[in-house]
Amino acid sequence: MGRTTPLLSLVSKVAATGALGLTCLVVTGCTMSGPQSTIVVEGPVARAQLHLFYVTLGVTTFIFLTVGAALAYAQFKFRERKGDDSSSPPPQTHGHPVIEMGLIVFSTLLLVIIAIPTVQGIAYQEDTPDRENALVVRVTGYQWWFRFDYPQLGLVTANEMVIPTNRPIHIELRTLDVIHSFWVPKLAGKKDLMPNRANHMWLEAEKSDYYWAQCAEYCGESHANMKFRVISLEPAAFAEWEQRQRSEARTVDSAVAEADAFRPRLQFAAYSPEKDLGTAGAESPFAYWLQKQAAPEPGTEDAGLIARGRQLYQEKACLGCHTIRGHGSMGITGPDLTHVGSRTTITAATIDNTPENLKRWLQHPNDVKPGNLMYRAGYVPNNITISDDEAAVLVAYLYSLK
Ligand code: CUA
Repeated sequence: MGRTTPLLSLVSKVAATGALGLTCLVVTGCTMSGPQSTIVVEGPVARAQLHLFYVTLGVTTFIFLTVGAALAYAQFKFRERKGDDSSSPPPQTHGHPVIEMGLIVFSTLLLVIIAIPTVQGIAYQEDTPDRENALVVRVTGYQWWFRFDYPQLGLVTANEMVIPTNRPIHIELRTLDVIHSFWVPKLAGKKDLMPNRANHMWLEAEKSDYYWAQCAEYCGESHANMKFRVISLEPAAFAEWEQRQRSEARTVDSAVAEADAFRPRLQFAAYSPEKDLGTAGAESPFAYWLQKQAAPEPGTEDAGLIARGRQLYQEKACLGCHTIRGHGSMGITGPDLTHVGSRTTITAATIDNTPENLKRWLQHPNDVKPGNLMYRAGYVPNNITISDDEAAVLVAYLYSLK
């Protein structure tokens, strides 16, 4: 029994590894093209990094197979046979200079094969090409959301970064509090946002698409809820987006009397036209995003509800933390909400931007994103609560901000 155990154990380990890999492939549908795939990539930076991954994978697979084969061969050839005298150890030898030197030289060679593209890759991802024409986006991490400034365009947005296709995006990475990490798997590897340190990276999208992204460095209680999206648009569509973002917040018939406003909750159900709410972001997220950009059909909005919501937004002191340009709201500790109605997600892309989700977030922020400042530094010390009716008018108002 003792003579076959090492070989059997090696074979069983290899078999177990293979089975595990196969299971992973079956579970993921064999495609490896999930929304946060690093294998199916859509930009030059991610592609360069993928290439490096394959070089490393190739070299390490070669080492694994070579060492494994040598081990298996030795186990088999020098196994204990019937009639062997096992009362004393077999003849001992001391080293083999040629083999030892050969192994050192060969290992060094393999490391050099990995090192050359690694050093090239580091240089490539550090140096934004065509720097003069690159679009600069300054990313600032907060616990727990992302702010996106476009200094060349004078724009600010949050949690959904919109970029033009086929143009390098030079990204400046900053943080207001702790270490976060910026990661858009299909476009580029992660890089940290460090306190008191200016990091940068670049990325580029090759086509118009909608990307999942997230903070990739543990940053406290709601780290897992710190996600974001990247939307890439053809240059003409990007120019249109830029134009819309530049405008002040949309105002729906501000002349409507406030007295008209406080409607029963039934009005709320009538106000949510989108059917495919829960899966909206998953099936065709890009189409969903485009749909979000369009202003509502004339006559489909309840101007009274919206006017009351705007008033309530001020009464509940929301304006102390959020900016809504043109509506007298200039707070900067929370995300800019000037065009929040045009985003596909809310609460740092934790949930889809639907009326139901927005209502839940406004009423129970600590359940949606535990530990968030809106709740801890806003609702709690100021005793803010939001009733169903109040949530309904606030949702109507925020939804009108296209
Ligand atoms: Cu921010 Cu994790």
